[in-house]
Amino acid sequence: MSTRSVFLLALAIAVAVQIGAQSTPSLKDTYKKSFLIGAAVNERQFSEQDARGAAIVKTQFNTITPENVLKWEAVHPQPDKYNFAPADQYVAFGEKNHMFIVGHTLIWHNQTPAWVFQNDKGQPLTRDQLLDRMREHILTVVGRYKGRIRGWDVVNEALDEDGTLRQTPWMKIIGPDYIEKAFEFAHEADRDAELYYNDYSLENESKRNGAVDLIKRLRERGVMVTGVGIQGHDNLTWPTPEQEDATIAAFASLGVKVMITELDIDVLPAAAKSGSADVSLKLASRPELNPYASSLPASVQRELAKRYADLFGVFLKHQDVVERVTFWGVTDADSWKNDWPIKGRTNYPLLFDRSGKPKPAFDAVVNVSNKN
Ligand code: GLA
Repeated sequence: MSTRSVFLLALAIAVAVQIGAQSTPSLKDTYKKSFLIGAAVNERQFSEQDARGAAIVKTQFNTITPENVLKWEAVHPQPDKYNFAPADQYVAFGEKNHMFIVGHTLIWHNQTPAWVFQNDKGQPLTRDQLLDRMREHILTVVGRYKGRIRGWDVVNEALDEDGTLRQTPWMKIIGPDYIEKAFEFAHEADRDAELYYNDYSLENESKRNGAVDLIKRLRERGVMVTGVGIQGHDNLTWPTPEQEDATIAAFASLGVKVMITELDIDVLPAAAKSGSADVSLKLASRPELNPYASSLPASVQRELAKRYADLFGVFLKHQDVVERVTFWGVTDADSWKNDWPIKGRTNYPLLFDRSGKPKPAFDAVVNVSNKN
């Protein structure tokens, strides 16, 4: 090909990309009057190494959450070593694109190294030692991004399915007040940051009731809890719109902000007990559990679109209290759902397909807003 034809071809591609981008509505504009629309982003996206993914994030979303880089194991891998470079880049990306930047997550039992709970001889820390370590971590991480990260998932997944406090190392060593301590330290580090409790399966009544009690207790004790994050790792039948509605209403009645923080809809046959999103779960692969390895049948594509429309209908009904709806990932190719709870499946949980194109579910989400 001559230099001229290469140039013309490149020009044609650039124009086509531009036209494509222009004709796709943006979620953030579509929902501008209702709530923020976000995505969890990975390093390849916020470093713009994945240029296509980064472009989708910039045009479609006005809030971002880091998929992994602010989890304890990533940002604080050893007692005296913080690894801030990726998180710095994440925050810079959000600022450059004028986004509401979320921090995820300060206190969790997963993706937290074992040393956190031990002294240098490998023995369990005492309550006071662990509280000191928690405070140091929170002041360092929240303090570094003070005024820039505007909302933090302070405590992630502290509840069991029955609504009681999960027996994590935090709970066992410090006791139930580890939760309020975490919120106090985060507030100490940045007085203006919004502080959230974040969990999955809150749509199930027993766990939801446990969360409602927890938030009430914290607020009665004067702890600054700004909002509750309903993770939203959903599937084609769970939660029902009624469950979603009741859950948002229950938290709204406490006077806290409500957020959908990790939305995705699993279309594959259930391999785990319904509603669970415990990342530590690992199950064996079986071919019948990976039925759409090459493509998603049109009927399931439609079912997924309808599910998204139904759920967004509920979010819109509660738009006065719902602050933000964040998807856990950008395209289907990026989703953790391809590897959880079985490695190597082909899942289709998000609004953009593996090539970055909006799916029928995307159109459905846009249309629900236009109807309201
Ligand atoms: C949980 C966590 C997230 C993420 C997802 C799955 O919901 O809160 O950080 O790990 O699991 O990736």
